[in-house]
Amino acid sequence: MSKPRLAAVRGMNDLLPSEAPLWEWFEARVLDWLRSYGYQQIRTPILEHTEVFVRGIGEVTDIVEKEMYSFEDRLNGEQLTLRPEFTAGVIRAVLEHNLTYDGPRRLWSIGPVFRHERPQRGRYRQFHQVNVEALGFAGPDIDAEHIVMLARLWKIVGLTRIRLELNCLGQAEERARYRTDLIAYFERHLQRLDADARRRLYTNPLRILDSKNAELADVVAGAPRITDYLSAESRGFFERLQSLLTAAGVAFTVNPRLVRGLDYYNLTVYEWITDALGSQGTVCGGGRYDPLAERMGGRSTPGCGFAIGMERVIELLRACGQGQTAPALDVYVVHQGGATAQAAFLLAERLRDAGLDVAYHAGEASLKSQMKKADASGAEFAVIIGERELAAGEAAIKALRAQNAQAPFARQSTVPQEKLAEALIDALTDGSPED
Ligand code: HAM
Repeated sequence: MSKPRLAAVRGMNDLLPSEAPLWEWFEARVLDWLRSYGYQQIRTPILEHTEVFVRGIGEVTDIVEKEMYSFEDRLNGEQLTLRPEFTAGVIRAVLEHNLTYDGPRRLWSIGPVFRHERPQRGRYRQFHQVNVEALGFAGPDIDAEHIVMLARLWKIVGLTRIRLELNCLGQAEERARYRTDLIAYFERHLQRLDADARRRLYTNPLRILDSKNAELADVVAGAPRITDYLSAESRGFFERLQSLLTAAGVAFTVNPRLVRGLDYYNLTVYEWITDALGSQGTVCGGGRYDPLAERMGGRSTPGCGFAIGMERVIELLRACGQGQTAPALDVYVVHQGGATAQAAFLLAERLRDAGLDVAYHAGEASLKSQMKKADASGAEFAVIIGERELAAGEAAIKALRAQNAQAPFARQSTVPQEKLAEALIDALTDGSPED
């Protein structure tokens, strides 16, 4: 009896070779963009002690209550969790290595994160984030820097159909007063709240504002607004941020109901949203989290940052007409087996030494079928090592994409092996025919 075929875990996707070029293209743009703003990479482990996220993200959040992949290490009983986001782990590392000792830091990370959510389009259980954190900066200029740099990234990669929503959550004391009034308001409308909202009423009432239930829209619309509870200082911070964005030409809407799903934020929160992807339209979210470092047992350190959801950005790029194919190979090397196979194998290495991108035909096959593979590989040239070429110390070159008879190597011709790399590079760079 044959064994059942194995399958990937639900909500966790394979990135297939046909999809990879667009990811590679996007990641290359992202690395240049991060460098251009002076950000440095930090890589933290995918596994952390569960406590890092419980303290970091907050106990009464969806992520910590029900979405974390947590387990006990069988060998030592430690409680561990696959990271559901980067921020808490990055702060843990910054504190552990005292990275802000000699001044503020601008940091970035990239990689998979894990949340046990109900999978649907744009919502997965393993997904990927580009994550940015700035630590040790207290003023709104760094919040503005993040938003302006995101606007620049969208421009670099050609993303349109995306808008920015912004809010200010004030400080803990302001939120506490707001929370009391919000609970009182929702208590007055208790019969209209759904089960989820009732469950959150006394633990995390701000999250009710984020409800996706259309029947709650009226109640939510009539709720008190955080912006009416801000101190003069918080209001000043928010106004300075807004004026910097306006001066930099970045459009935004203030959404007083934007609260975000993680508990560490104070003052600034924002989301970049698109209508092009259905219900999972938030492609990037972030904000300020000044209390987080202390909450995690460290010295008080202001911080703010954001994470881009890569699956969503990639899908939006496709919706905006951005497609990428794999960069073409320069050369595909074919041979006649036996001694010619070894010679071709070594010659391919010599061509790579010279900087060319080369695929070698592994295994034995007829020359005709190898030439078909060479053509399908997308390579510009086939290099052929047959018995005759081997005996003469030569290699034959045949252009695979020649548009006309004058193109270099449109007709197959041979060159000495030691001149091969040079001949190929000439043909690839200036297209001048070789003799
Ligand atoms: P977040 O809003 O939880 O923030 O996630 C950031 C982005 O990740 C979202 O805007 C979305 O694009 C993407 N995302 C979230 N969940 C899923 C999912 N299940 N499937 C696919 N994509 C998803 C954070 O993670 C914060 N740590 C951001 C931050 C950094 N704040 C300050 N610094």
